[in-house]
Amino acid sequence: MIIRGALTGAALASLARASQPGAAKPIAAPMRDLNWGQLNFIHTTDTHGWLGGHLQEPQYSADWGDYVSFTHHMRKQADDKGIDLLVIDSGDRVEGNGLYDASHPKGLFQYGIYAEADVDIICTGNHELYQAYSAYCEHNITVPNYKENYIASNLDYIEPETGDRVPQAQRYRKFKTKNQGIEIVAFGFIFDFTGNANNTVVQPVAETLEEAWFQEAIREKPDLFVVVGHVGLRMEEFKTIFTAIRKQNWHIPIVFFGGHAHVRDTRKFDSKAFAMASGRYFETIGWMSIDGVKSASDEVEATSSPSFSRRYIDTNLFGLHYHTGLNDTTFPTKHGKRVTETITRARKSLDLDYQFGCAPKTLWMSRAQYPSKDSIFTWIADEVFPDIVTRKDRKDKPRLAITNTGGIRFDIFKGPFTRDTTYAISPFLSGFRYIPDVPYKAASKVIDLLNSAGKIFEEHGLDTRILTLPEQRFPVPIAVADETEEVEEPWLELRDVKKEPSLIAGYTTKDDVGDDGDDTIHETIKFYNQPNCVQSEIAFPEDGEPETVDLVFLDFIQPWIIPALKFAGADYTDDDVEEYMEGTLTYKMAEWISKNWKGEC
Ligand SMILES: *[C@@H]1O[C@H](CO)[C@@H](O)[C@H](O)[C@H]1NC(C)=O
Ligand SMILES: *[C@@H]1O[C@H](CO)[C@@H](O)[C@H](O)[C@H]1NC(C)=O
Ligand SMILES: *[C@@H]1O[C@H](CO)[C@@H](O)[C@H](O)[C@H]1NC(C)=O
Repeated sequence: MIIRGALTGAALASLARASQPGAAKPIAAPMRDLNWGQLNFIHTTDTHGWLGGHLQEPQYSADWGDYVSFTHHMRKQADDKGIDLLVIDSGDRVEGNGLYDASHPKGLFQYGIYAEADVDIICTGNHELYQAYSAYCEHNITVPNYKENYIASNLDYIEPETGDRVPQAQRYRKFKTKNQGIEIVAFGFIFDFTGNANNTVVQPVAETLEEAWFQEAIREKPDLFVVVGHVGLRMEEFKTIFTAIRKQNWHIPIVFFGGHAHVRDTRKFDSKAFAMASGRYFETIGWMSIDGVKSASDEVEATSSPSFSRRYIDTNLFGLHYHTGLNDTTFPTKHGKRVTETITRARKSLDLDYQFGCAPKTLWMSRAQYPSKDSIFTWIADEVFPDIVTRKDRKDKPRLAITNTGGIRFDIFKGPFTRDTTYAISPFLSGFRYIPDVPYKAASKVIDLLNSAGKIFEEHGLDTRILTLPEQRFPVPIAVADETEEVEEPWLELRDVKKEPSLIAGYTTKDDVGDDGDDTIHETIKFYNQPNCVQSEIAFPEDGEPETVDLVFLDFIQPWIIPALKFAGADYTDDDVEEYMEGTLTYKMAEWISKNWKGEC
């Protein structure tokens, strides 16, 4: 099983270019320019440890070192123009990539590498809080790294030694921008998250808004309110905050930077309040600019609206060079190159390029329908589960094995399936549990209930949307596949690039502002909604139905399984649930791949 990774000679030549050795080269594409305004923002969210970039995807192959270079150049350009630029991050920096998950302890390299970026406003996501360990690391590492730039408007930390409950960071921040002295009051929220470990306390947003400090903060009269939040734009929380701020300030502009839903999106609250979300997994660098926040004479007319624009930048060097006007030699800064090299060393010492096997074809999460031969969920249900869901003493017992689709977080690309891939695809620590000998009549109803009977779980305080992909949990405007739409827009500036006959498939975002947000003009990717859960039938009789089955499921979905069974007429409690076998889904999947997808690529 020892096949060493791809970090060999040929890759070294690419070091000067920056991005990780072996990363796919970016492909030239028609681009839309960035608008600069009086005040400009660069935004990342839900990076989930992808600081090495997407080595197999040319469109997202730049790394955190390139980001450090990019923000450096953009800050410099803002200074030269006498305008301002703020860099924002809205949480979920951890979990979901080997660079974070593969080290012991987790994040051994990640925290230091992340902190190389100079970020002006930063907040916490739910993934920083699932484990007491990562909440502690936020408190002990990231908050001190970012000091006054870290904001925790509705999050407290419980100090283990004393049991004292303290704000995870300051509640809000009032400051002036460097070049124009634009006065800003900034907040940093997390949505009403309840799945956190017991060393933090998330205060519901609506309650927080009643607090004296918040009421005082919104009575400040800044030029602009900036609300950073680990919040989906279409969730209730931002709307609630918007309403509270507007009650006190009917004319002050507000900008929101959100995330959590893993989509590119912009929402307009009113003509002076916009919210932007900048995707996931370091595929996207968000860009927002705003003009008319503060007039030179300091007399902002209360009736005039600021003008506002946004772009979703694909994280690759072609685009970063394009937007900075720099090239292979002039773009990478010393600092950026050092970060790139640190990532390379970290990936090497974690052996992230270690190959478990070679994927014979690409399997999609949401670009293929379920069921279909290109669906990752069909592969799991039809090929992987029948092999891995087994135990010696019950191997002939018919069983149903259920997993939620949200447990899988990335596509599998044809080619090397590495240690890195396993963490990207299945970052969670879920293991297998079961209830033995469940009457089949009841057990067989569970899958349909999980997939289409959200209502029956609501009375148990359970939301079935949590079971599926973050990308489809909230009603957001998702671009509908438009087959072969000709892209011919007069404003399109093609700098040194001939339009390729076929565009690269990628984001074609539609948001409240329009359909011209993406910096790269792409061919539309199809998006198919996936079921909440998928199921395999294993060791079933050739004919007829089994009398009883073992109902096997990932531990994550146990809270839904018990009420589903009850609704189907079978009374069980958590006490009836046992471990089915040792090992996490991630571990078992990697084992399956090394047995079934043998060989070099
Ligand atoms: C972080 O943890 C280390 C080791 O336990 C400790 O020495 C240090 O004081 C902590 N720092 C903060 C800011 O809590
Ligand atoms: C938090 O949970 C841990 C592990 O379950 C437990 O040991 C600890 O006592 C709990 N702490 C509090 C403050 O409830
Ligand atoms: C990059 O830009 C610099 C400065 O404009 C120029 O001198 C150099 O030749 C360019 N390098 C490449 C590889 O295009």
